[in-house]
Amino acid sequence: MRQKMVFGNWKMHGSFEQIQHLLQDVILGLAGEESTVVGICPPYPYLQLVKKLCSNTNMKVGAQNVSQHDSGAFTGEVAASMLSDLGVNYAIVGHSERRELYGETSDLVAKKFMASQCAGITPILCVGETLVQRDNGETEAVVLAQLQAVIAAAGVEAFSNAVLAYEPVWAIGTGKTATPEQAQEVHRLLRKHVAALSEDIAANLQILYGGSVKDSNAGALFTQADIDGGLVGGASLHAEQFIAICAYTES
Ligand code: PGA
Repeated sequence: MRQKMVFGNWKMHGSFEQIQHLLQDVILGLAGEESTVVGICPPYPYLQLVKKLCSNTNMKVGAQNVSQHDSGAFTGEVAASMLSDLGVNYAIVGHSERRELYGETSDLVAKKFMASQCAGITPILCVGETLVQRDNGETEAVVLAQLQAVIAAAGVEAFSNAVLAYEPVWAIGTGKTATPEQAQEVHRLLRKHVAALSEDIAANLQILYGGSVKDSNAGALFTQADIDGGLVGGASLHAEQFIAICAYTES
């Protein structure tokens, strides 16, 4: 039985003060909930603060990005070993904003995925199609190519210690959510692709849905057979919303 999982991706939002309030409310609201893995991915400068505030809780802490390099002259980059030093447990790799705005290719994403694992950090690999690609009937080809690029580089075994997130680009931050059926169809496809290589790994792989998850749609999404929880952007900046979303994984 796969454990449900909800991660908040705060993106480039927050301040020292705001984060303390938000996180204190979230921690209070989630007290006693143990069946779901709940995590927060704050901006880098707040990782240590978030880690500290979460220290007596079950909450996990993730980074939103990671360098593919171990160390060296890479101004502005953060190595996986540094995240590991801070006690960070997860790192998002291949988020569509990184692919689109920073030109990250699937090849680079695969390197970041492997760098995370080498440092003991569980990568959350994001895949997803744009609206044009969906309209052109390319959803399957796009998401499978993004997934396969990492499988080809890291091997399917690497997915026994990774999380996959299906995030249709057209649903991110737009208020448009994939219907539970649309999302399930892609989740099933992704799991089937992994299952063709290892049934065991596919059966245990947590696949999260991301893209305008709210408390009004989380229930219907999270009850789909292959949806194991969510990667939540905007709604994770509101304690009540985030707590309500997490509660849907308990049912
Ligand atoms: P959103 O973002 O929930 O604001 O659509 C999701 C994500 O980008 O991970």
